[in-house]
Amino acid sequence: MMRFDVLTLFPNMFSSPLNESILKRAQEENLIAIKVHDIRDFTSDKHHTADDYPYGGGRGMVMKPEPIIMAIGKVRPRIGESRVILLTPQGKRFDQKYAVGLSKLSCLIIICGKYEGIDERVREYVDEEISIGDYILSGGELAAMVLLDAVARLIPGVLGNPESAEDESFFNRLLEYPQYTRPRKYNGLDVPEVLLSGNHQAINKWRHAQSLRRTLERRPDLLEEAELSDEDLRILSEIKQELDPGKRW
Ligand code: ADE
Repeated sequence: MMRFDVLTLFPNMFSSPLNESILKRAQEENLIAIKVHDIRDFTSDKHHTADDYPYGGGRGMVMKPEPIIMAIGKVRPRIGESRVILLTPQGKRFDQKYAVGLSKLSCLIIICGKYEGIDERVREYVDEEISIGDYILSGGELAAMVLLDAVARLIPGVLGNPESAEDESFFNRLLEYPQYTRPRKYNGLDVPEVLLSGNHQAINKWRHAQSLRRTLERRPDLLEEAELSDEDLRILSEIKQELDPGKRW
């Protein structure tokens, strides 16, 4: 069982995303445990002050160090491998490989910072700073949910079908092939014939070629790191010719 402890000033933001669909089932089946802690509960003054004016002046409020550090102390387990993560646009960029690495740990402590700031001394208690992308959210909460979802679904048993996570794009650095369901004809748009053929070898071949095509068209940067067979390279050069016969690739 993997344990996630989330430290936040806005615990209510987590209730609905954690109580639906895959994350809900994973908790019910004890594959993961997610505990959301209100940082305000770790304040010691009458007004439960979690933030304060910045020294040196300036806009916004800064999250105080003591409540956050108290909260880390309370949730950090004595055994098992835990990692304290701070979500911030200044962190290392999150991606699928990063998620795979985190999914092998037994406990993550995730601190959601306010974008305006968090007292710098909190960083002394943090193992890793993570950004989910080059844009600014108003707080780390949505980023924490992205991270939670991406990591939780990699834990064995969380997805019904054990192959689903590996089969997907980004695992082998290719984009997904197109999917279809009924009806077979819709507004003049037909499902590709090969998918109706029942020939699984032909279907797999078509899907793989479609993945290669999509990746070439939309994310050629991913192909540079993908492990490609001679057959893949042959398919790609055919697609390149077809896309732009005049061009020398
Ligand atoms: N907090 C605000 N923006 C963020 C981002 N892009 N990633 C992680 N945490 C954040």
